[in-house]
Amino acid sequence: MRSLLKGKEIVLGVCGGIAAYKSVELLRLLIKDGAGVRVVMTRAATAFVAPMTFEALSARPVMTSLFEDAGGEIRHISWAREADAVVIAPATADIIARMAHGFADDPLTTMILAVDAPVLIAPSMNPRMYQNPVTRENLRSLKGFGFHVMEPESGPVACGDEGTGRLPGPETICEHVRRLVLPRDLAGESLLITAGPTQEPIDPVRFLSNPSSGKMGYALARAARRRGADVVLISGPVSIDAPIDVGLIRVRTAQEMKEAVLSRFDSASIIIKAAAVSDYRPVNVSDHKIKKADETLALELSRTPDILRRLGEIKGDRLLVGFAAETEDLVKNAATKLKEKNLDLIVANNVQMSDSGFGVDTNRVTLIFADARQESLSLMSKDDLADLILDRVKGIRGSK
Ligand code: PMT
Repeated sequence: MRSLLKGKEIVLGVCGGIAAYKSVELLRLLIKDGAGVRVVMTRAATAFVAPMTFEALSARPVMTSLFEDAGGEIRHISWAREADAVVIAPATADIIARMAHGFADDPLTTMILAVDAPVLIAPSMNPRMYQNPVTRENLRSLKGFGFHVMEPESGPVACGDEGTGRLPGPETICEHVRRLVLPRDLAGESLLITAGPTQEPIDPVRFLSNPSSGKMGYALARAARRRGADVVLISGPVSIDAPIDVGLIRVRTAQEMKEAVLSRFDSASIIIKAAAVSDYRPVNVSDHKIKKADETLALELSRTPDILRRLGEIKGDRLLVGFAAETEDLVKNAATKLKEKNLDLIVANNVQMSDSGFGVDTNRVTLIFADARQESLSLMSKDDLADLILDRVKGIRGSK
């Protein structure tokens, strides 16, 4: 289990909207991430979810009134003082209007006026209410005051209307909270990351590929973005959701990946190639599905462009990280690739173990640096490994 928010105090403000049920899951995710969470509810919110639900899950008292007996503690001030971040989800048009005008007539608005920590607002309401010029103006004011405002999602809403106004998913909101409270130590860097497999077509319904799921590359993209970097992710065909605020470019073949990488290369300061690029492609691609005929069928294959090797030739002062998928002589083979492709770091994974490499959520790798240093790492989640690789990349950057 990851504990990215360990030791952090988060206040979760819940307002009276149908999406209040999603706050329960958000609370669970924040706690799973290691945070201590205190919940403040408006009176309307208690009509949608019982305070007892939040109390049981947070193992803390829930604030629903300014006037409840807290044994002498002035909670709306002490909770504000101790918060590392406040997240208001769902934030209704009403709370947005009252916050924009400095109201302090309930526990949530009163606490907000006393908070120094970052405040994240996740609006949720009927699309017409969201587009109303008054709501737009109130949100503009709040942004101007330094509040962080998320864009609601589009789609059908509870009342049958369709448009922008749905509360984003709890994981998306939780990721924004992480970004607000965790160090942005990669701010100013531009990362170009590749992920997933390539597919080299044989005919309209068949292709050559490999079992890369994209999990490793997407974990790197999420972690780099969370740490403040600008991220472009060039991805082969995978079925993972696009990371938030990452420029995602989808490609299919090695040739397409090469073109996408080279067209973004100039603006990158760090390039990480986690994609599993096919080394060969069929020389002839049939326009029609190849019919079953003889007992055997020979495919003639030719080499695909070696993207990483090309990057190594033109990298200048950019930092270049490759991956190596090996089934034998892990360190020796990966070290040869590091040298031949002019890399700063190579991540060597033994792809024959069932708990590391392709498809799984965990990885066990050896890092090999350009100065021949090696670091053998034990089994860990791809999310943890992504942060560790970025730590090492920062270390190399600092020592250059
Ligand atoms: O996607 P997952 O399911 O999470 O799995 C992760 C992973 C196993 C795919 C990943 O961790 C990994 O090892 N990626 C590299 C796989 C690979 O292609 O290894 P390689 O040893 O064949 O290639 C070495 C490096 O050259 C890689 O950085 C590769 O992106 C690059 N390459 C390879 C061939 C080619 N034509 N062009 C390239 O740029």
